[in-house]
Amino acid sequence: MSELDLILLGPPGAGKGTQASLLTEDFGVPHIATGNMLRAAREAQTELGKLATGYMDRGALVPDEVIIAMILERLSGDDARDGFLLDGFPRTIEQADALSGELDGHGRRLTAALLIDAPDDIVVARISGRRISPTSGRVYHIDFDPPKTAGRCDVDGSELVQRDDDRAETVRKRLEVYHAQTEPLIAYYEERGLLWRFDGTLPPEQVHGHIRAALTTLRLEESL
Ligand code: AP5
Repeated sequence: MSELDLILLGPPGAGKGTQASLLTEDFGVPHIATGNMLRAAREAQTELGKLATGYMDRGALVPDEVIIAMILERLSGDDARDGFLLDGFPRTIEQADALSGELDGHGRRLTAALLIDAPDDIVVARISGRRISPTSGRVYHIDFDPPKTAGRCDVDGSELVQRDDDRAETVRKRLEVYHAQTEPLIAYYEERGLLWRFDGTLPPEQVHGHIRAALTTLRLEESL
């Protein structure tokens, strides 16, 4: 079976985390989400977590050298040897170059960059309605994917919370940062023939079906 080394690109709230959870089940690759790693570090009050907090709460990017060191260490884990699904990394050209250098050094090559795209007004509506279980990690939306009991997680009954950086003014800043610093990666991966675009405005199960079909085709082609 050929290895799948994948990244998910797209604006905040486009549905990267939602799709990643489904795709890791389909393809058995680990879901490596920089935002989740940073939030866990913050919760554990590690040096990394303390450093990242100010940037995250402002909607700014954590400095490249910090994020690159964190992700390269994570990619050296045994579970990433046969493939991975990166969510939230890379977010700058420098991060993309670091990833490509690391893969080259191990004789690997990115399989695809999966862009889930959606306009700003849609992602703002999604982010403002997002609620998360702090214990199970399950993500909901108050209108588009509500829990069975309002405010409570279906998995473990915990009280759902809103992410600190999901406040309206921080969301606007995150979108600005995305357009200025991360959007150039679309051309970067397009030039390298690695970009696959998906319409993130469709319902989650349709987006999932489209990505799964593309990855199944890609894997078949690579194994020929
Ligand atoms: P991070 O946690 O990566 O946040 P993000 O990229 O802004 O993405 P989100 O988690 O907000 O959205 P998502 O696309 O995963 O959407 P979701 O599936 O949850 O980063 C946070 C911060 O960490 C950054 O601001 C930065 O400070 C720092 N950071 C992280 N990585 C970094 C890096 N590489 N470099 C530097 N700094 C870094 O969906 C959103 C909502 O919509 C949910 O409620 C969901 O239920 C709903 N939904 C999903 N799909 C659909 C659909 N198709 N239709 C309707 N509703 C949907």
